[in-house]
Amino acid sequence: MLIKIRKASDVRGSEITPKSVYLDRRRFLRAAAVAGAGAAMAPLALAGSAQAGAKLTGVVKGPYSTDEEQTKYESVTSYNNFYEFGTGKSDPARNSRNFKPKPWSVAIEGTVAKPAVYDFEDLIRPHKLEERVYRLRCVEAWSMVIPWIGIPLGDVIKRLEPTSKARYVAFDTLHDPEQMPGQRRSVLDWPYVEGLRMDEAMHPLTLLAVGLYGEEMPNQNGAPIRLVVPWKYGYKSIKSIVRMRFVETQPETAWNKASPREYGFYSNVNPDVPHPRWSQRRERRIGFFFKRDTLMFNGYAEEVAGLYTGMDLAKYY
Ligand code: MTE
Repeated sequence: MLIKIRKASDVRGSEITPKSVYLDRRRFLRAAAVAGAGAAMAPLALAGSAQAGAKLTGVVKGPYSTDEEQTKYESVTSYNNFYEFGTGKSDPARNSRNFKPKPWSVAIEGTVAKPAVYDFEDLIRPHKLEERVYRLRCVEAWSMVIPWIGIPLGDVIKRLEPTSKARYVAFDTLHDPEQMPGQRRSVLDWPYVEGLRMDEAMHPLTLLAVGLYGEEMPNQNGAPIRLVVPWKYGYKSIKSIVRMRFVETQPETAWNKASPREYGFYSNVNPDVPHPRWSQRRERRIGFFFKRDTLMFNGYAEEVAGLYTGMDLAKYY
């Protein structure tokens, strides 16, 4: 089992770029294999940041939760993609310890009736926090099951009253190389940007997440507020959001700018459309030994397939 877990073919070549990322994943797998054999992983307090860990109260169970086995908290918070804190999987937990997600504000801009800079609390407080256990499938062919806590993005959007001109929502991550050491290198064109078509943003599955496992969002997972779009590859789930803009035309997205051939605007999980460098047919669920089939729309086809009726998903990848 240990040998199988460590096989390079088990974790298909590096994705979203460099070799360092791939090597780092192998280091993680070795650590995971050791942990599986009985050794202890890093204590919880060390896995997160100074601010992480505060319990969120008044959380209700939301709809759409899967009852699949949840990925261990230690894995969810130590195996991350957050290039603002480094390209290695363990970099975000290590390099985000001094990141300050409080106070925080989010600028609402564009074709919207209530543009303003909203304090984080004012943006969130009018809504009931829900726990939603979602699968998240990374473009790198691994997946996790995470009990997110958040509010439906659609509810927030309704309150902000976009005008009829708004066809897309664009999102920006914080740009602050002082706090985000990964931004001192031009790995991506900072800030990290993402976008959704308005009907995708309004879909009841789309979550603005502020926590996981009953606690405030750990820094490495996108504190204090991030997107979770479970039927799309993980990179659409932009972290540490400081700006939402309602726009008429399709916005740029960070990975599409970096490599348009590999990363499209839609980025729906689709086992039938391979990434140019690897297949998307199978995936490795973190914590499990055997690979499993990747499901269309990451298993959320019943809920979201209708959004793409009549679209050629090989063209609009
Ligand atoms: N958001 C920002 N700002 N920067 C990033 O590098 N990585 C994306 C996404 N959001 C990323 C980001 C990718 S590739 C994935 S798979 C998910 O975050 C990972 O989320 P997690 O670390 O909470 O599992």
